[in-house]
Amino acid sequence: MTAVDEARPATAPGPRPETGTVLRFPTGFRWGTATAAYQIEGGATEHGRTPSIWDTFSRTPGKVRNGDTGDIAADHLHRMPDDVALMKELGVTDYRFSVSWPRVQPTGRGPAVERGLDFYRRLVDELLAAGIRPVATLYHWDLPQELEDAGGWPERDTAHRFAEYAGLVAGALGDRVPTWTTLNEPWCAAFLGYGNGVHAPGRTSDPAALRAAHHLNLAHGAGARVLRDRLPGTAEISLTLNLHALRPLTDTDADRDAVRRIDAVANRIFLDPVFHGRLPEDLVEDTADVTDWSFVRDGDLEVTSTPIDSLGINYYSPSVVSAGTSESPSPWAGAERHVAFTPAAGPRTAMDWPVDADGLYELLTRLRDELPSVPVLVTENGAAYDDYADPEGEVHDPERVAYLDAHLAAVHRAIADGVDVRGYFLWSLLDNFEWAYGYSKRFGIVHVDFASQRRTAKDSARWYAEAIARGGLKR
Ligand code: NOJ
Repeated sequence: MTAVDEARPATAPGPRPETGTVLRFPTGFRWGTATAAYQIEGGATEHGRTPSIWDTFSRTPGKVRNGDTGDIAADHLHRMPDDVALMKELGVTDYRFSVSWPRVQPTGRGPAVERGLDFYRRLVDELLAAGIRPVATLYHWDLPQELEDAGGWPERDTAHRFAEYAGLVAGALGDRVPTWTTLNEPWCAAFLGYGNGVHAPGRTSDPAALRAAHHLNLAHGAGARVLRDRLPGTAEISLTLNLHALRPLTDTDADRDAVRRIDAVANRIFLDPVFHGRLPEDLVEDTADVTDWSFVRDGDLEVTSTPIDSLGINYYSPSVVSAGTSESPSPWAGAERHVAFTPAAGPRTAMDWPVDADGLYELLTRLRDELPSVPVLVTENGAAYDDYADPEGEVHDPERVAYLDAHLAAVHRAIADGVDVRGYFLWSLLDNFEWAYGYSKRFGIVHVDFASQRRTAKDSARWYAEAIARGGLKR
């Protein structure tokens, strides 16, 4: 695929023909939006759903801002057809959603709950009827609490349970879902969940975080095998990583070594087992005082490196690192004793994350160089801002439009420079439950008034619809 800058007027759509240059994306480029079950569905006890680790965590005082929970969230469970209709209006080609494990297999063991699966069957039907390609993620952080009670991701059995669950969902949706993602951001699940404890289940143990990372890799590989077995040969099997775009503060050996350390524990801890069937040697050395890695058994790395068809990456902002120390508990498995983080300069989103589209370009070109044969999907990118509906009921979000425009332009530049990027999934369709921040952070291009559940398309939604219709960005 190659991107072409065309210096000719776009022909569609809108009242007046547009003039000027269009940064046009390749034909067939996938223009999507993304969500996740716990963040939008609500219906926490419907269909016999029992708690996930996020239900438990959000009910624990002090863990989530304002004591918010996903009990109702954006009530997507009851408003799904309207939400799909919104996407149809936007013109998206793809929709990335996640399946709630505790909704389809409440205890994480045994047979599926058909009523839970029925929700996803209806969602997929609705999407296909709207001409939107479903992209299903099997694990977006909502581990059944019973599996956490049995040890959670630090225990090997959780990987086997995941593979079984993957088979149940594949059996129900496999004939109609063309793209499957095993895990979303296993780094967050392992290191925020078990390392610094800011995510569910809120444990703070470096050895547990490293064990969790390995068992998530194992779950991915075992799940990918089950999917390959159960799905039609045309199915695309993928994994989504939040690869960290890392920059040294200065060009000294010490700062470059700080980058190497974080790269090992944030990026290569997943990339190497999944794409090369090995553990990074420097990671094993760096963490020797935390674990001896004896939980990695013979044959595991063959499973983790089961061939997949594409890699999803989620990108929001880069990190600037240098030799130094950071606070503890940390998500860096001991690297915090050697590494400091410096806030990048420039504008910030409401998450206080720097706006820096070059980081996305850097990540994408790294993948071209290191994994040249693996097609890439940008499975998440977007920004939170303090949006509100004005007296006319409109939501103007120029900063988000600027953020999206800059990041899509970075994707375009990467494609022009030979990166095989097949699609872009904007995070997120709707304002939703932003994990430890609860409802205080709004990532949607559609505003949700959580009291009334009223949806209002923000300016960014219209901007995205126009970009999709045009097949590119106005310049
Ligand atoms: C990544 C996660 O996958 C998603 O759930 C989250 O809401 C966004 N980042 C924004 O933080």
